[in-house]
Amino acid sequence: SRHPINIAIDGPAGAGKSTVARLVANALQYIYVDTGAMYRAVTAVALERGIPPDDEEAVGRLAENLDVVLLPGDEGQRVLADGTDVTSRIRTIEVNRNVSRVATYEAVRTKMAEAQRRMAKAKGVVMDGRDIGTHVLPDAELKVFLTATPRERALRRFKEMGDQANITLKQLERDIAERDRMDQEREIAPLLRAPDAKFIDSTGRTIEQIVDEIVEWGRAASRTISAGEK
Ligand code: CDP
Ligand code: CDP
Repeated sequence: SRHPINIAIDGPAGAGKSTVARLVANALQYIYVDTGAMYRAVTAVALERGIPPDDEEAVGRLAENLDVVLLPGDEGQRVLADGTDVTSRIRTIEVNRNVSRVATYEAVRTKMAEAQRRMAKAKGVVMDGRDIGTHVLPDAELKVFLTATPRERALRRFKEMGDQANITLKQLERDIAERDRMDQEREIAPLLRAPDAKFIDSTGRTIEQIVDEIVEWGRAASRTISAGEK
């Protein structure tokens, strides 16, 4: 439409944010930005270079000097770190277990948030993460807080892993709960629902239902802006 808006989608792990955000972006012909992939890229590179994830200074220095770029691709978004494609290396169990620690560091968050704001400057972006509506894009025209019960979120992730599931559902549930706790309790830009975010509990609902609802809200927000400018 004539007035593209920014849409912020936040929530805990496995709520359906990235699946839904990608489809909403397709429907509106917007750009999808997966901010979690950026924190994962820093974590994966730290692990590969032997930098201990609990060494805040060393990880901070790495983040400050690392060029993390998101590229829209045919088979989904690609993630580059200093020009190297790390897409296939950012969703390992080891990265899952260390990313929330890395994401507590101020130097890491400052660097990522600046890059994310630049990507959203021209509007027409659907961005998902933990602190998008509260911190990265507080002026986003539409904010959504998406969640589901911890059981359902763990089950979704378990099904995704399929045959390569070298982890039990119970362990996965524990890992997700621990990550949620760290994301909610950290000092800088924690996971929380912005007061002006629309709340969606996706438990027992289909992806299509959620996408349709958000696309409708997005179109309405864009129309409101158009009307205001007449
Ligand atoms: O997809 P999933 O929900 O498993 O996680 P993700 O969105 O890829 O994010 C991975 C981790 O990055 C989260 O658990 C947070 O610790 C961190 N993160 C963050 O701190 N802020 C964001 N805006 C996005 C992710
Ligand atoms: O990005 P986030 O961690 O919030 O979740 P996701 O990776 O997009 O979604 C986790 C899984 O839940 C995916 O396999 C989706 O297909 C599935 N899902 C679902 O079954 N029902 C929904 N309403 C939304 C997502």
